Formats: sequence, C-alpha cells, structure tokens
Amino acid sequence: MHQIPIGIFGLGTIGTGVMRVLEKNGALIRRRLGAEIAVRKIVDLDITTDRGISIAPGLLSTGADDILKDPEIQIVVELIGGTGASRDVVRQALAAGKHVVTANKALLAEHGEELYTLAQQHQRRIAFEASIGGGIPIVQAIREGLAANRIESIYGIVNGTANYILTQMTEAGAPFEAVLKEAMAHGYAEADPSYDIEGIDSAHKLAVLASLAFGTPVALDQVYTEGISRITPVDIDYARSFGYKIKLLGITKLVNGQVEARVHPTMISEKTLLAQVDGVLNAIYVNGDAVGPSLYYGKGAGALPTASAVISDLIDISRDILHGVVGRVPPAAYLQASREPIAIRNMDDVHCRYFLRFGTVDEPGVLSRIAGVLAQHQISIASVIQKGRRADGPVPIVMITHRAMERNVKNALQETDSLEITRDKTVLIRIEDWRHEDGK
Ligand code: HSE
Repeated sequence: MHQIPIGIFGLGTIGTGVMRVLEKNGALIRRRLGAEIAVRKIVDLDITTDRGISIAPGLLSTGADDILKDPEIQIVVELIGGTGASRDVVRQALAAGKHVVTANKALLAEHGEELYTLAQQHQRRIAFEASIGGGIPIVQAIREGLAANRIESIYGIVNGTANYILTQMTEAGAPFEAVLKEAMAHGYAEADPSYDIEGIDSAHKLAVLASLAFGTPVALDQVYTEGISRITPVDIDYARSFGYKIKLLGITKLVNGQVEARVHPTMISEKTLLAQVDGVLNAIYVNGDAVGPSLYYGKGAGALPTASAVISDLIDISRDILHGVVGRVPPAAYLQASREPIAIRNMDDVHCRYFLRFGTVDEPGVLSRIAGVLAQHQISIASVIQKGRRADGPVPIVMITHRAMERNVKNALQETDSLEITRDKTVLIRIEDWRHEDGK
C-alpha cells in the first residue's frame, strides 16, 4: 500500500493523541484514503518520558533536521505550541517543500499571513483544523462547506476553560477564583491560565476565524479582548432575572463594510442554542447569507478530539498528494491574491445593548442623576432593577439599555463613576440579541 511519510514535532497531549488515533483507526483511514499515513519521525526535547503509547524504536529524536532534512517526509505536523520554535519549524518545513499541519492558534493569529503567503510561494499546504474548536470541523465548514456564502457573523464559544468556569459559577453560584482553581486541578486550563480567562486564547481563535470568514488579515491586536475574571455570581444572577446567560463569546461581524472582532463576556438570551452550551464544550454559530444560521458544537480541546482534527488535515493533504494536485485549497479560504484588507471597526464604534450595574449610596435622587447622565450621552434605558436597601454597603442599581454606542457608554460611565454618590466602579456587560430564525 502507498505510504504518506510524515514527521511530528511535539509529543505532548495532542501528539500522543495523534499516535493513538492513527494506531486505533489506521485500517479505517487506509480504506478512506487508499494509503497509509506513516509516522517516520517524532521530534521532541523529551524522548524519555513514558507517554503510555508504544513507539517503534528509532522513531523518537531530539534533532529537528531528522524531519526537516528527510527528503521522504512529505507532511510536517507542528504540535510544539507558542510562536517561537514553532514558527521556525513551519517556515523551514514549507521552504523544504513539505506540507504543514498545525494546531497552533497563537502562531496563526500572530503570523498567519506570513505563513499562508509562504505556503503559496512554495506551492504547499498549511492546514490548521485543530487550531479552533478542537475536534469541531469549523475550518473546513467555513472554507469549503459554506464557500457559497457571504459570511455575515460568527459567535463562538471557543474556550472550554472559560466556559467551564462560567457554567460552574452559574450552576453552583461559586465565585470565580474557586472555580478557576478547580478547573486547573482538572487540567482544563492552559499552562498559563490567563490565556483562557483573560480571553487571549479566544482572541487567537477569533482572529483566525474572522480572517477565514472575511478574506482579510485580522491582527491579534485588532481584536478587542476582555476576559471573565471580573464576572461575579451577582451579575450572573441579575442576568438570569433578565432571561440571559453570560458566556465568553468571540464575535465577528461585517457591519457597514467594516469587520467587528471582539472577545468579551456577553449576555445572550437563555433561549438561544449557544446559551445551552455548557461546561468545557465549544460551539460556533455561523450566519451565511444563503445558508442562514448554522451551529457547530463539540469538544474544543483534549487529546483525541484535537487529534481527530489534525488527522483530518493529514488525510486531506494526503489526498492532494495522491492525486498530484497542488494549490487546490487556499489555506485561509480565499485565494491569497484576492484577500483584501478590510477596516477593523474600532471598539468605540460598536453598537449593542448594555447591562450596567452601578454601586451607589442609597438616597433620594440617585436613580435620576444616573439616568440623567445616560440621557446626556444618548443612552436610552430599557429596564431598571433596584433591589432592597443594604445597611452594609453600596446599593446596586441595575439597568439594561437599548442599543447604544460603546463610546457614549464609556463616556457616560466615566461621569457616573466620578459622581459623589458612586461607591463602586460600574460593571458593564455587553448584550447580543439575535432572532432565532435568521441568527441575526
Ligand atoms: N485552553 C483551551 C480551552 C484549549 O480551554 O479551550 C483549546 O485551545
């Protein structure tokens, strides 16, 4: 049987998962591909730790050249992570005429344009299904399944750790810090949990999604990013009383010819399908002009789901190799030559509804002073809750606004936060509403 020789950089959780799935489903994959994906070399700095899998003698090496300079190896799998050594490996592999499969969202978010161009120059593929949503085939869905559509918007729960934390806070009423500790004990969080909880991991994935959807470069620093560390059970309870759940969403939309790209805690109706996505699961809700709304749901992390995505790329590239085809699939969904810069909308220009929780003294006239400031900034109030008096601290006044401009809301809060009646910095959580039928 024909063999497709591959080399793998990084034998961590995902690398081990890839080996497991290739071993378990090798025969099945051969029936689908008509060839065997043959691992020729695995390079890792640590080649002594027992990973609980059987590895043929001589397969492991610490020398990158054992893959990069092996003329037989046709596909390089980059599972190192980070943006340093991984970038060198990907560039060298492409320059050496090898196709690349990577799970590395940070690398793509920061250097994607350079690598897509390099792949095109060398007439090789760079594939990255595993970089977003683990095992969910979202890249292929956008790049191929939805290729007939103008993508209008994407709302994604793309970080399992943050979703797990918010779910536990919602279900158990537990505070953020306690749930984060538990998530780390379960091994859900990244080595540096700030990537998960501060929205950085989601921003990496959203930058790649937006770039795929709209055919434009989206730099990481153009993605407005806010994490979940300031969300409290109190706000989750208020959200519930308004019929909302709080999720960390990656949102990208085409609005008036500009791309919005933002990651932040978001209140969404508890009736939406996305609101039902709990625990470590991920889901990506994509609206296309022809297809309408479509939802992709599944495991966003873990050895085997991520291996599933890595191997799907290996199979896809192997099919091209077997058919002698080059350049069939543009890596980022649009031909490189037809990718066009589209302006990324300044966060200040975004319009949405807002949940605002003010902490003020309890005395007559407070509500009207706050309402007055909001009115001066063209912010119209949709509902207000003020719960009972508290002897021991500020009184929460909670408002939901009608659609307002972020700039106006920020300016208004700067004013209200400096009023002498204000005791706590105002909590702001954005709301996204969409109709079920058309997802808009
Ligand atoms: N830390 C990530 C998550 C892993 O929690 O979703 C997958 O990128």
